[in-house]
Amino acid sequence: MPRQASSPGRPHETIASPLDLADDLLRRRCLRCHVYGSGDGYPETTRGTGCAACHLAYTNGKMTNHAFSKSPADSQCLHCHYGNFVGADYYGRFEHDFNQEYRTPYRTDGSETRPYGVEFHQLTPDIHQQKGLACIDCHSGAELMGGHGAAKGTTPAITCLACHDWRKGLPLPLSNLQVEADRLVLFTRLTSKKLVVPQLVHPAHKLYEKKAHCTVCHSQWSFNDQGTHLLRTDTPDHPAWARLSVQGSREVEEQLDNPTPQGPSLRDKITGAPSPSLWLKGYELRRWESPLIGIGPDGRLQIFRPILDLHLSMTDTGKKVIFDNVGVKPKQQRYLPYTPHTAGKAGAFFNERLKPNLPTETKP
Ligand code: HEC
Ligand code: HEC
Ligand code: HEC
Ligand code: HEC
Ligand code: HEC
Ligand code: HEC
Repeated sequence: MPRQASSPGRPHETIASPLDLADDLLRRRCLRCHVYGSGDGYPETTRGTGCAACHLAYTNGKMTNHAFSKSPADSQCLHCHYGNFVGADYYGRFEHDFNQEYRTPYRTDGSETRPYGVEFHQLTPDIHQQKGLACIDCHSGAELMGGHGAAKGTTPAITCLACHDWRKGLPLPLSNLQVEADRLVLFTRLTSKKLVVPQLVHPAHKLYEKKAHCTVCHSQWSFNDQGTHLLRTDTPDHPAWARLSVQGSREVEEQLDNPTPQGPSLRDKITGAPSPSLWLKGYELRRWESPLIGIGPDGRLQIFRPILDLHLSMTDTGKKVIFDNVGVKPKQQRYLPYTPHTAGKAGAFFNERLKPNLPTETKP
């Protein structure tokens, strides 16, 4: 039987194909958010596991209450939904590039704190966040608990239209919505505000409803991280990588800052077992302006992100290159449509958003 990709001390020969390499990447560098592992060691990435990931309150690296908290605060969701992933954008956060020069503002007194591992730019938060809506005002327990992060639940996700194009006689899509004097009103779950849900009146809506998703006109910015490079190495070149040691993984950061004689290792996020080598990460370009717009699976315009623009490489213990720049092919499949949480005014120039601008080619 072949040895498990994660067993400690496994020989490097077991990484025999690009698939083995991708599996190793997922298990040792990606899955700490994608399954109920124990998170990462920064103050706001420390959390409970399983049900407790949402229902046990953690702040600044510590459990703040032993009791089951019925209605998870946004900070609980952000323990996983941070970095350039949906959730962080709701708060207007966009992660800095890793290179020291980009990670401003830095302080010289060493007092700088990085609650999520990497600093972030503060852009405009989502209009709903500004008005007091929390994640759970739109994402109900029924939606989230139906296999969160693993399989899609049976309760469908809320849509923009369910609130903003509600008509008398239609069922109420969420239990925090009510009808008062023929108007749809929302009672926020965590702050007990009462807000009237504005209904669609601008003529752009009727005109373009078959052509574009709401986000195409209303997203203020989007995640556009082009070219994510991931290198598996046993022998990181320390002076060179020291400038890039902050890369959203405490495990990696500590080993780049303080190399040990045994050489580097990373834990498997499913079994917890460490094995030699590090996965180092870098980006070609991180941008938020000018969302990428393309035609989605339903034939309407949607915002895309290059989330699968991944480039995997590997060197062995003798620094020999085993894999060089392995990526997803065809290139168009590196982009996936998504729902940015950066809603705001469409503004006067929304027409410019109504033509596709997705690159047809990316660098190899
Ligand atoms: C333990 C980490 C973790 C926590 C805590 C967490 N999420 Fe997630 N969530 C994820 C991951 C990872 C995905 C992506 C799943 C995928 O595509 O495989 C996800 C996906 C989602 C989705 C997309 C649909 C789905 O269910 O797959 C929504 C909506 C969502 N999360 C909302 C929330 C909200 C709201 C909270 C807080 C109440 C929250 N999440 C807490 C990790 C987490
Ligand atoms: C900081 C925690 C975290 C890490 C580390 C992480 N992810 Fe995610 N990922 C998320 C969350 C949360 C979501 C759901 C929110 C979203 O879609 O942006 C997500 C969503 C995704 C999606 C989108 C799925 C879809 O249906 O659109 C892909 C693809 C993905 N991640 C791949 C990866 C890969 C590959 C890695 C490793 C290189 C990785 N992720 C590492 C938290 C993380
Ligand atoms: C991704 C986040 C998330 C995870 C993981 C999660 N829950 Fe929940 N849970 C919620 C949300 C959101 C609500 C609804 C809160 C509200 O309506 O105020 C909720 C509500 C509940 C409630 C109250 C239901 C009610 O009607 O009063 C219980 C009980 C509960 N969850 C148990 C669990 C258990 C047990 C697990 C693990 C199997 C779990 N949850 C995992 C997000 C989550
Ligand atoms: C749970 C119901 C709900 C859902 C779902 C929802 N919204 Fe809203 N939205 C609101 C409420 C409530 C307000 C008004 C807040 C206020 O101003 O008091 C609002 C305000 C807005 C505004 C500002 C309108 C103005 O006055 O200029 C826009 C734009 C908007 N939403 C777009 C969206 C988009 C796009 C989506 C889907 C991604 C969405 N909404 C999903 C409830 C919702
Ligand atoms: C105003 C309503 C609203 C609020 C508030 C809201 N969301 Fe969403 N979210 C939506 C809608 C609508 C979708 C799209 C659902 C669909 O079409 O499947 C969505 C989709 C998502 C997805 C899937 C993204 C993708 O395209 O892969 C994630 C993850 C998510 N939300 C997480 C969060 C988190 C975390 C918070 C709080 C920080 C939050 N949401 C707050 C309305 C909201
Ligand atoms: C073709 C561009 C476009 C699309 C697509 C679009 N909107 Fe709008 N929307 C606008 C413009 C323009 C306004 C006028 C105010 C502004 O600039 O935001 C507006 C205004 C609004 C308002 C405030 C009430 C009003 O009508 O003036 C809400 C709420 C809103 N949009 C929600 C949505 C939702 C939900 C969707 C998806 C079903 C959507 N919009 C799709 C362009 C668009």
